[in-house]
Amino acid sequence: MLRMCARGGSLRSGKKVELISVIPKLRQCLEQVRRAGKTIGLVPTMGALHQGHGRLIETAVAQSGCVVVSIFVNPIQFNQQEDFEKYPRALEEDLEFCEAHGVDIVFAPPVGEMYPEPLRTHVEVSWLTDHLCGAFRPGHFRGVTTVVAKLFNIVQPDRAYFGEKDAQQLAVIRRMVRDLNIPIAIVAVPTVREGDGLAVSSRNVRLTPEHRRTAPLLYQALLTVAQAIESGLKDPVQARARALALLERAPEIRLEYLEIVDPENMQPVRSIEGPVRVAAAVWLGGTRLIDNVLAKPANR
Ligand code: PAJ
Repeated sequence: MLRMCARGGSLRSGKKVELISVIPKLRQCLEQVRRAGKTIGLVPTMGALHQGHGRLIETAVAQSGCVVVSIFVNPIQFNQQEDFEKYPRALEEDLEFCEAHGVDIVFAPPVGEMYPEPLRTHVEVSWLTDHLCGAFRPGHFRGVTTVVAKLFNIVQPDRAYFGEKDAQQLAVIRRMVRDLNIPIAIVAVPTVREGDGLAVSSRNVRLTPEHRRTAPLLYQALLTVAQAIESGLKDPVQARARALALLERAPEIRLEYLEIVDPENMQPVRSIEGPVRVAAAVWLGGTRLIDNVLAKPANR
């Protein structure tokens, strides 16, 4: 039994991470883990792991008896086939990364394992997906919630970990879990940044050296808005204008959106009366960057 799943009742240290690519084997393995009385933490990813993912994994390892990292480049959340094909894949390095971080199981299924037949069922969260990335990437969140719901059903973790870097994704998943009574605790992990403030992302390596130097301006613009809000600015139009003025200093930055939204329902606010999320997407050449910060108005 233990040979089938070395993770069953064993200790973490000194053990190789278990690579599993088929669903029945993963289920069998997790059955043993549960029988050994361990809690299960799931970190869903699309691989090409970096320090942002690393923070999610560290948090999971600290909180859960058995940590599963899923690595699956999910075709149904990409708007363009080319984008899906070009998405970086680095399973060998990812396995090393997971092992170094104390992960127990890597679940890396091929596309045919997750989608063996044309999918006739989707999970779609409405309203929260109307703005921000949802407005510019039709069908994207439907693809995300559908695959995450599948992963939740396959792994049945106690907790699942998501980054605040993708704040709309996090809010959408929280809502899905509430609306569908999914018994999994969603844990939010703060955004990991480079020294100059740029949010860590697998897309950063695609930036030219010149664009890489410009990229931190996105975070600076968001911070400018957050500071204005913290100092009492209530008008989102004025707050937004401050960020745009800063971004205009770099003509190579093309703004996709910059919005000030309610952190739970992701709807733009008319007046800033409580905590808000300031979220933006920009293009630098062919690379799309997203980022966001939470801003809280000063107490009156
Ligand atoms: P992926 O882009 O690989 O991200 C996996 C998780 O890592 C997400 O929860 C994301 O928010 C988090 N993450 C990425 N960069 C981060 C950073 N700099 N700081 C903190 N967390 C960060 O998001 C996805 O994959 C997919 O949509 C997925 C949820 C796996 C569904 O396919």
